[in-house]
Amino acid sequence: MDVPNTSGTSDRKVALVTGASRGIGRAIAIELARVNYDVMMNYAANREAADEASVAVRAASTREGVRVATCQANIAEASDREELLQKTRQQFGRLDLLVNNAGIAPEKRTDLLDATVESFDQLLDVNLKGPYFLTQAVARWMIEQRTSGEIGDYHPAIVSITSVSAYAASPERGDYCVSKAGLSMMTKLYAARLANEGINVYEIRPGVIATDMTAGVKEKYDRLIDAGLSPIKRWGTPEDVGRAVAAIATGMFPFSTGEVINVDGGFHLRRL
Ligand code: NAI
Repeated sequence: MDVPNTSGTSDRKVALVTGASRGIGRAIAIELARVNYDVMMNYAANREAADEASVAVRAASTREGVRVATCQANIAEASDREELLQKTRQQFGRLDLLVNNAGIAPEKRTDLLDATVESFDQLLDVNLKGPYFLTQAVARWMIEQRTSGEIGDYHPAIVSITSVSAYAASPERGDYCVSKAGLSMMTKLYAARLANEGINVYEIRPGVIATDMTAGVKEKYDRLIDAGLSPIKRWGTPEDVGRAVAAIATGMFPFSTGEVINVDGGFHLRRL
């Protein structure tokens, strides 16, 4: 049952996951429900997929009266970000965890020398500007919640889903790599700024994960994985990433901030 505390703020932890209608975001929302979070699921456009995902998230929770909501918002748009947070406030009254998951790959892989300004702007808007300013607004709200003292035992956190592309150079999708490298720096910046505010900030760096995003390059990665791209020779799953977020969400890394968690089958290891 949903038990409000004396201030009217629920005593249950709440997560906001961007891009939660499918793929990694959907799995993150499911794993968070499993560890008893209520979840606000943001999605870009596909309401049907978001509704289906919210049913799966609800089913994953063993908690009676788990609260799951969906909210359409383009995280690249300032007014949409504001509305997303307003709705989260109205429906849940508090926020413990922000997961910056929403992201896009370039519509077409293009050699660096032919890359377009349009694709660059689009990728940077969604993958970096959106999370940068959503995190800013969320951080202000989390600080407000902490200083109000209304929520006992409040240990908020922020997680961003970057990619091995934050450091591995792919000249046929430079815009994606630059956006993820920026998101990686964003994690360090907010970690440094928010430590004194009691907010820990983490980066999860997935490797090759089987989702709609990678469906178009499946054969290429099948071959690369077979040939030893990562020491663990398999595709990653959305659940692999979801579990890493759940570990953070359950407070398993209290003395770590700005930390990078590689969920990549060991791809990052240099080998000789
Ligand atoms: P996906 O394409 O299956 O899902 C992305 C989600 O983000 C979708 O729900 C989509 O609607 C949402 N989204 C896109 N633009 C949005 C916007 N402007 N506002 C709100 N939501 C928006 O992709 P996948 O694979 O689940 O990726 C999730 C995150 O993980 C992305 O940030 C991606 O860059 C990252 N990632 C994925 C890897 C993979 O191999 N699939 C590897 C490394 C990182």
